[in-house]
Amino acid sequence: MAIDLKAMLLHAGELQRATTLGELLQVTHAAVRSHTRYVHSWLAVVDSDDPGFMYFVNVTGSQEALVLATCPRLSVADDVLVQEILESGEPVVVVEAAEDPRTDKQIVALLKNRTLVNVAMAVGTERMGTFGVGTYGDEGVMVPTETELEWLVVFATQLASAVVRLNLLARQEQDTAARVKLERHLEALQRVELMGVLAAGVAHDLNNYLQVIHGNLTSLEPRTREDAETFEDMLHATTKASEVARQLLSLGRSASLKQGLDLNRRVESTLKLVRSAIPRGVTVSHDAGQVPPVEGDPVQIDQALANLLINARDAVGDTGKIVVAVSDQELHAEFARSNPWAKAGRYGRVRVHDDGPGIPPELLERIYDPLFTTKATGTGLGLAVVSRVVQQHRGLLHVESRAGAGTSFDLYLPAQ
Ligand SMILES: Nc1ncnc2c1ncn2[C@@H]1O[C@H](COP(=O)(O)OP(=O)(O)O)[C@@H](O)[C@H]1O
Ligand SMILES: [Mg+2]
Repeated sequence: MAIDLKAMLLHAGELQRATTLGELLQVTHAAVRSHTRYVHSWLAVVDSDDPGFMYFVNVTGSQEALVLATCPRLSVADDVLVQEILESGEPVVVVEAAEDPRTDKQIVALLKNRTLVNVAMAVGTERMGTFGVGTYGDEGVMVPTETELEWLVVFATQLASAVVRLNLLARQEQDTAARVKLERHLEALQRVELMGVLAAGVAHDLNNYLQVIHGNLTSLEPRTREDAETFEDMLHATTKASEVARQLLSLGRSASLKQGLDLNRRVESTLKLVRSAIPRGVTVSHDAGQVPPVEGDPVQIDQALANLLINARDAVGDTGKIVVAVSDQELHAEFARSNPWAKAGRYGRVRVHDDGPGIPPELLERIYDPLFTTKATGTGLGLAVVSRVVQQHRGLLHVESRAGAGTSFDLYLPAQ
């Protein structure tokens, strides 16, 4: 009996429409049942991330759970039968598994394998995995006929091309997800850039006016206690407004880079400045590690660090822990490929960690946006400034935050 080509074409179409390996197996299972005498079929696919291993996709029939529990992953190097299947262009038939020297007797005893017929799924010289049919326990041994073998070989070629297509799809999906993330990140950076240019112009004038108000206020003598309180409020408000103007101004400022900066020194001098603004109950520690010298603008770097520290303070409240850790970091190309925010290279890194409540995932994408704030008296400019500074230094900025596990901001500056 020759192979039914029309039926094979129909199956090929079904295989090409499958969107998961599980669906592929369903099509396979139905096809095996209608064209051979076998009831059980399986797919073992080469792990595309780790080609020394194969894993069972899903195994149809009563043995499914047992097979997956016994041997979910196969090491190709450790399995002579798998090697033979992958290397041979022909189907490999094991008539009685318990007696064949090539099988793993422990697994055979567990699964009660009887006959095993396996074919390699290959495209050109690349092996995608194996496709098999067989019998268990009381089903007895079942030697495949010539026609059955022929059918299995042809079907395996169809399966192989479907597996290749699914692998490609999976890779494409990964790439798209990484690209979308990167684009969002770039968009946020561009918004900061534009905002910086606009804001700097306004802030400059604003700051001059504020200086005048502030100067005059301090030279006035309040006559009553109420006046004195009003003066205090006005002074406080102008100081706050100057702070906003200063942050806005620095958004538009370009860096004046100096050589050989020591990041531990930058952390020390910033901590000295902001220490008084942090409540006593908050412990702040500086974990000074070995770090390569970096090129940068010390004023800007201090400003970025101060913003991160103040945010950490706001996050922990009256009691908590802030750790500033400085370290030498080498990011490899492979790491950069799987982390769209990263770029390969050697960096000095400052990590500002706090044990505050963390940032909810839905807000993470917006925190760098200028004017984005969740605080009643926030300006929403702190992280915009940090991100702008990092950009001007061709550095990297990364945040790790989980609800309940605190927040870590990592500022990477390229090593000289
Ligand atoms: N360490 C942190 N822990 C929790 N949330 C943070 C932290 N740092 C920043 N955020 C969030 O990011 C927002 C933006 O921060 P920022 O740009 O500095 O503006 P602001 O501090 O004025 O709100 C904050 O309002 C807050 O919601
Ligand atoms: Mg802030």
